[in-house]
Amino acid sequence: VHPGWPEDLGPLRVPAGVVTVRPVKLRDAAVWSRLRIRDREHLEPWEPTGESPWDARHHITVWPSLCGNLRSEARKGRILPLVIELDGKYCGQVTIGNVVRGALRSAWVGYWVASHVTGGGVATAAVALTLDHAFSKVGLHRVEATVRPENASSRAVLRNVGFREEGLLKRYLDVDGQWRDHLLVGMTVEEVPTTVVDRLVRSGRASWV
Ligand code: ACO
Repeated sequence: VHPGWPEDLGPLRVPAGVVTVRPVKLRDAAVWSRLRIRDREHLEPWEPTGESPWDARHHITVWPSLCGNLRSEARKGRILPLVIELDGKYCGQVTIGNVVRGALRSAWVGYWVASHVTGGGVATAAVALTLDHAFSKVGLHRVEATVRPENASSRAVLRNVGFREEGLLKRYLDVDGQWRDHLLVGMTVEEVPTTVVDRLVRSGRASWV
Protein backbone atom coordinates (compact mmCIF):
# COMPACT_ATOMS: atom_id res chain seq x y z
CA VAL A 1 0.00 0.00 0.00
CA HIS A 2 1.33 3.40 -1.04
CA PRO A 3 -0.03 6.36 0.87
CA GLY A 4 -0.46 9.26 -1.52
CA TRP A 5 -0.88 7.18 -4.70
CA PRO A 6 -2.68 7.83 -7.02
CA GLU A 7 -3.45 11.47 -6.39
CA ASP A 8 -3.74 14.80 -8.26
CA LEU A 9 -1.72 17.81 -7.02
CA GLY A 10 -2.26 21.55 -7.51
CA PRO A 11 -3.33 23.78 -9.17
CA LEU A 12 -0.71 26.48 -8.78
CA ARG A 13 -0.28 29.58 -10.95
CA VAL A 14 3.13 30.64 -12.31
CA PRO A 15 4.10 33.03 -15.15
CA ALA A 16 3.69 30.25 -17.76
CA GLY A 17 0.14 29.39 -16.66
CA VAL A 18 -1.61 26.98 -14.32
CA VAL A 19 0.41 23.93 -13.22
CA THR A 20 -1.11 20.65 -12.03
CA VAL A 21 0.49 17.27 -11.38
CA ARG A 22 -1.17 13.86 -11.81
CA PRO A 23 -0.30 10.14 -12.15
CA VAL A 24 1.00 8.90 -15.53
CA LYS A 25 -1.62 7.19 -17.68
CA LEU A 26 -1.76 4.97 -20.79
CA ARG A 27 -3.28 7.79 -22.84
CA ASP A 28 -0.05 9.84 -22.48
CA ALA A 29 1.66 7.68 -25.14
CA ALA A 30 1.38 10.01 -28.15
CA VAL A 31 2.31 13.28 -26.45
CA TRP A 32 5.10 11.64 -24.44
CA SER A 33 6.65 10.15 -27.58
CA ARG A 34 6.25 13.31 -29.65
CA LEU A 35 7.78 15.67 -27.07
CA ARG A 36 10.58 13.33 -26.02
CA ILE A 37 11.67 12.73 -29.65
CA ARG A 38 11.37 16.42 -30.59
CA ASP A 39 13.31 17.54 -27.48
CA ARG A 40 16.21 15.11 -27.65
CA GLU A 41 18.85 17.89 -27.67
CA HIS A 42 17.20 19.61 -24.69
CA LEU A 43 16.95 16.44 -22.61
CA GLU A 44 19.77 14.05 -23.48
CA PRO A 45 22.70 15.95 -21.84
CA TRP A 46 21.03 15.61 -18.44
CA GLU A 47 19.52 12.15 -18.47
CA PRO A 48 20.85 8.67 -17.67
CA THR A 49 22.39 6.93 -20.69
CA GLY A 50 19.95 4.49 -22.29
CA GLU A 51 20.63 1.06 -23.73
CA SER A 52 18.93 1.62 -27.09
CA PRO A 53 18.91 4.63 -29.45
CA TRP A 54 16.87 7.68 -28.33
CA ASP A 55 14.12 7.46 -30.96
CA ALA A 56 13.61 3.72 -30.41
CA ARG A 57 13.44 4.23 -26.64
CA HIS A 58 10.78 6.88 -27.08
CA HIS A 59 8.68 5.28 -29.79
CA ILE A 60 4.96 5.51 -29.07
CA THR A 61 4.74 1.71 -28.74
CA VAL A 62 7.19 1.74 -25.81
CA TRP A 63 4.87 3.73 -23.52
CA PRO A 64 2.28 1.05 -22.62
CA SER A 65 4.84 -1.27 -21.04
CA LEU A 66 6.87 1.61 -19.55
CA CYS A 67 3.73 3.17 -18.07
CA GLY A 68 2.51 -0.23 -16.85
CA ASN A 69 5.83 -0.86 -15.07
CA LEU A 70 5.81 2.61 -13.51
CA ARG A 71 2.26 2.15 -12.23
CA SER A 72 3.04 -1.32 -10.89
CA GLU A 73 6.08 0.05 -9.01
CA ALA A 74 3.88 2.88 -7.74
CA ARG A 75 1.31 0.44 -6.34
CA LYS A 76 4.12 -1.33 -4.49
CA GLY A 77 5.06 1.99 -2.88
CA ARG A 78 8.47 2.35 -4.53
CA ILE A 79 7.92 5.37 -6.78
CA LEU A 80 5.45 8.13 -7.68
CA PRO A 81 5.52 8.60 -11.48
CA LEU A 82 3.75 11.88 -12.21
CA VAL A 83 2.89 14.01 -15.22
CA ILE A 84 3.22 17.80 -15.19
CA GLU A 85 0.36 19.61 -16.93
CA LEU A 86 0.37 23.27 -17.96
CA ASP A 87 -3.15 24.64 -18.49
CA GLY A 88 -4.39 21.05 -18.61
CA LYS A 89 -1.84 19.85 -21.19
CA TYR A 90 0.92 17.27 -20.70
CA CYS A 91 4.26 19.13 -20.70
CA GLY A 92 6.69 16.97 -18.71
CA GLN A 93 7.15 14.60 -15.82
CA VAL A 94 8.23 14.63 -12.20
CA THR A 95 9.10 11.43 -10.39
CA ILE A 96 9.68 10.51 -6.79
CA GLY A 97 11.94 7.45 -6.95
CA ASN A 98 13.59 4.90 -4.71
CA VAL A 99 11.14 5.37 -1.86
CA VAL A 100 12.68 3.72 1.20
CA ARG A 101 10.68 3.40 4.41
CA GLY A 102 11.63 2.27 7.91
CA ALA A 103 14.09 4.50 9.71
CA LEU A 104 15.18 6.25 6.46
CA ARG A 105 11.84 7.37 4.91
CA SER A 106 13.67 8.96 2.00
CA ALA A 107 13.47 9.24 -1.79
CA TRP A 108 14.89 11.19 -4.73
CA VAL A 109 13.06 13.58 -7.05
CA GLY A 110 13.74 14.03 -10.78
CA TYR A 111 11.95 15.98 -13.52
CA TRP A 112 11.91 17.28 -17.09
CA VAL A 113 9.82 19.87 -18.87
CA ALA A 114 9.29 20.27 -22.65
CA SER A 115 11.45 22.97 -24.28
CA HIS A 116 8.47 25.10 -25.40
CA VAL A 117 7.34 25.77 -21.82
CA THR A 118 10.69 26.37 -20.08
CA GLY A 119 11.51 29.59 -18.26
CA GLY A 120 8.03 30.19 -16.88
CA GLY A 121 8.24 28.54 -13.49
CA VAL A 122 6.64 25.23 -14.50
CA ALA A 123 9.30 22.91 -13.10
CA THR A 124 9.62 24.96 -9.92
CA ALA A 125 5.85 24.72 -9.31
CA ALA A 126 5.68 21.01 -10.11
CA VAL A 127 8.61 20.14 -7.84
CA ALA A 128 7.13 22.24 -5.02
CA LEU A 129 3.74 20.50 -5.28
CA THR A 130 5.47 17.09 -5.41
CA LEU A 131 7.68 17.82 -2.38
CA ASP A 132 4.70 18.88 -0.27
CA HIS A 133 2.92 15.66 -1.22
CA ALA A 134 6.03 13.60 -0.41
CA PHE A 135 6.34 15.18 3.03
CA SER A 136 2.61 14.95 3.85
CA LYS A 137 0.54 12.07 2.41
CA VAL A 138 3.50 9.92 1.33
CA GLY A 139 5.05 10.38 4.76
CA LEU A 140 8.69 10.91 3.78
CA HIS A 141 11.20 12.60 6.05
CA ARG A 142 13.83 13.44 3.44
CA VAL A 143 13.91 14.06 -0.30
CA GLU A 144 17.15 14.41 -2.21
CA ALA A 145 18.13 15.20 -5.79
CA THR A 146 21.30 14.98 -7.86
CA VAL A 147 22.12 17.42 -10.64
CA ARG A 148 25.07 18.02 -12.94
CA PRO A 149 26.95 21.19 -11.91
CA GLU A 150 26.61 22.39 -15.54
CA ASN A 151 22.79 22.22 -15.39
CA ALA A 152 22.19 25.86 -14.42
CA SER A 153 18.42 25.91 -14.90
CA SER A 154 17.85 22.73 -12.90
CA ARG A 155 20.10 24.05 -10.13
CA ALA A 156 17.96 27.19 -10.07
CA VAL A 157 14.81 25.07 -9.72
CA LEU A 158 16.32 23.15 -6.80
CA ARG A 159 17.56 26.32 -5.10
CA ASN A 160 14.22 28.10 -5.57
CA VAL A 161 12.23 25.31 -3.90
CA GLY A 162 14.64 25.34 -0.97
CA PHE A 163 17.05 22.45 -1.42
CA ARG A 164 20.36 22.60 0.44
CA GLU A 165 23.63 21.59 -1.22
CA GLU A 166 25.25 18.62 0.49
CA GLY A 167 28.25 17.77 -1.62
CA LEU A 168 29.74 16.68 -4.91
CA LEU A 169 29.40 13.04 -5.97
CA LYS A 170 32.36 12.24 -8.22
CA ARG A 171 31.64 10.22 -11.39
CA TYR A 172 28.23 9.46 -9.89
CA LEU A 173 25.96 8.64 -12.82
CA ASP A 174 26.24 7.48 -16.41
CA VAL A 175 24.70 10.46 -18.18
CA ASP A 176 24.93 11.24 -21.89
CA GLY A 177 27.49 8.48 -22.39
CA GLN A 178 29.96 9.25 -19.57
CA TRP A 179 30.33 9.02 -15.79
CA ARG A 180 29.40 12.52 -14.66
CA ASP A 181 29.95 14.36 -11.38
CA HIS A 182 26.68 15.35 -9.67
CA LEU A 183 25.84 17.78 -6.88
CA LEU A 184 23.76 16.20 -4.12
CA VAL A 185 21.04 18.37 -2.61
CA GLY A 186 18.68 17.45 0.19
CA MET A 187 15.71 18.66 2.20
CA THR A 188 14.17 17.22 5.33
CA VAL A 189 10.68 17.94 6.58
CA GLU A 190 12.05 20.02 9.49
CA GLU A 191 13.28 22.56 6.94
CA VAL A 192 9.72 23.25 5.75
CA PRO A 193 7.90 25.15 8.51
CA THR A 194 4.66 25.48 6.47
CA THR A 195 4.79 24.06 2.93
CA VAL A 196 7.18 24.40 0.01
CA VAL A 197 4.33 25.91 -2.04
CA ASP A 198 3.59 28.42 0.70
CA ARG A 199 7.24 29.51 0.58
CA LEU A 200 7.05 29.91 -3.23
CA VAL A 201 3.89 31.99 -2.95
CA ARG A 202 5.42 34.20 -0.25
CA SER A 203 8.52 34.75 -2.39
CA GLY A 204 6.28 35.89 -5.28
CA ARG A 205 7.17 32.96 -7.61
CA ALA A 206 3.70 31.42 -7.64
CA SER A 207 0.16 32.17 -6.59
CA TRP A 208 -2.88 30.18 -5.52
CA VAL A 209 -5.47 29.65 -8.25
N1 ACO B 1 21.64 29.94 -16.28
C1 ACO B 1 21.15 30.17 -15.04
N2 ACO B 1 19.85 30.07 -14.73
C2 ACO B 1 19.00 29.74 -15.73
C3 ACO B 1 19.43 29.49 -17.04
C4 ACO B 1 20.81 29.60 -17.31
N3 ACO B 1 21.32 29.37 -18.52
N4 ACO B 1 18.35 29.19 -17.78
C5 ACO B 1 17.29 29.25 -16.98
N5 ACO B 1 17.68 29.60 -15.74
C6 ACO B 1 16.86 29.77 -14.55
C7 ACO B 1 15.64 30.59 -14.74
O1 ACO B 1 15.93 31.96 -14.68
C8 ACO B 1 14.80 30.10 -13.56
O2 ACO B 1 15.27 30.62 -12.32
P1 ACO B 1 14.62 31.94 -11.66
O3 ACO B 1 13.15 31.62 -11.45
O4 ACO B 1 15.35 32.12 -10.36
O5 ACO B 1 14.81 33.03 -12.63
C9 ACO B 1 15.13 28.65 -13.54
O6 ACO B 1 16.38 28.49 -14.22
C10 ACO B 1 14.11 27.80 -14.25
O7 ACO B 1 12.97 27.65 -13.44
P2 ACO B 1 11.62 27.10 -14.09
O8 ACO B 1 11.10 28.04 -15.12
O9 ACO B 1 10.72 26.70 -12.98
O10 ACO B 1 12.13 25.75 -14.79
P3 ACO B 1 11.66 25.19 -16.21
O11 ACO B 1 10.20 24.95 -16.20
O12 ACO B 1 12.24 26.04 -17.26
O13 ACO B 1 12.38 23.74 -16.21
C11 ACO B 1 14.22 22.22 -16.33
C12 ACO B 1 13.75 23.62 -15.88
C13 ACO B 1 13.37 21.16 -15.68
C14 ACO B 1 15.66 22.05 -15.90
C15 ACO B 1 14.08 22.12 -17.88
O14 ACO B 1 14.92 23.05 -18.49
C16 ACO B 1 14.41 20.74 -18.41
O15 ACO B 1 13.55 19.87 -18.50
N6 ACO B 1 15.71 20.52 -18.80
C17 ACO B 1 16.14 19.27 -19.39
C18 ACO B 1 16.05 18.08 -18.44
C19 ACO B 1 16.68 18.37 -17.09
O16 ACO B 1 17.71 19.00 -16.98
N7 ACO B 1 16.06 17.88 -16.02
C20 ACO B 1 16.55 18.05 -14.64
C21 ACO B 1 17.59 17.02 -14.36
S1 ACO B 1 18.25 17.16 -12.68
C22 ACO B 1 17.01 16.55 -11.69
O17 ACO B 1 16.02 15.99 -12.18
C23 ACO B 1 17.16 16.66 -10.21
